[in-house]
Amino acid sequence: MGTSRRKIEHLKICANRKVESSHRYFDDLILIHNALPEIDGEKISLRKRFLNRDFTAPIMVSSMTGGHPKTEKVNANIAGSIEELGLAMGVGSQRAALKDPTLERTFRIVRKKAPNSFICANIGAQQIKELKKEDVERIVDMVEANALCIHLNFLQEAVQPEGEVNGEGCLRMIEALCNDVDIPVIIKETGAGISREVCKKLKNLKLGAIDVGGAGGTSFSAVEYYRVLKNFDFWDAQIGDLPQQRKKKMRS
Ligand SMILES: Cc1cc2nc3c(=O)[nH]c(=O)nc-3n(C[C@H](O)[C@H](O)[C@H](O)COP(=O)(O)O)c2cc1C
Repeated sequence: MGTSRRKIEHLKICANRKVESSHRYFDDLILIHNALPEIDGEKISLRKRFLNRDFTAPIMVSSMTGGHPKTEKVNANIAGSIEELGLAMGVGSQRAALKDPTLERTFRIVRKKAPNSFICANIGAQQIKELKKEDVERIVDMVEANALCIHLNFLQEAVQPEGEVNGEGCLRMIEALCNDVDIPVIIKETGAGISREVCKKLKNLKLGAIDVGGAGGTSFSAVEYYRVLKNFDFWDAQIGDLPQQRKKKMRS
């Protein structure tokens, strides 16, 4: 399955299927109403300084897309909106454009439409081992990135029948990459969150931030489940969380 085709399938599945986590953790919170605020509403500012930049609100459109010709328009629309609102944006994994330079435009459009905004490049932790120094420079230059997001999507890869399930040595590779780039690195997950224990492991790295956006929104294992149902078979969908070797063994 090509990386590019996977990108458009992710968008279609998110648009048409129920891929949210089954439990919305924000529903567990009740904000206590303050009936006596004693502040001037006009003076409330949502402005936030983050990684040496000012934002009109602490909101970032998380890394989502690029890498298939049809995703260019989606990135253009998001970029145009964040430029107008003074927010930040990440692009989806740029792996597809590294393999096929004709797809670079699906990412370059972001900087074109958002010349003044804070834009994050994006690559998977699983891909670091394949990256040469020039590749890292290419993904950063492609969007003239202000930060580089590295996504930890091991759960997602494990659910993909064609996924890369070897995470050995990953922390060391992330550390080396953090030391190599001269823009801040943001570590993120892809919808299942980052635990306290993982944060502790990352704590001593030269990081700009950890995006702890967790379970509650889009579940990428759910997205991959629907891809498997469509492209592979029901058996894969059921055992999507097993490493490839075990799947083969169970089939034989
Ligand atoms: C359609 C779609 C594509 C995504 N692609 C990527 C990606 O390529 N790289 C990445 O780091 N995260 C990707 N994500 C994950 C998001 O950046 C985010 O971590 C996840 O959706 C959880 O945030 P949410 O709860 O706001 O949905 C994608 C999410 C969606 C909905």
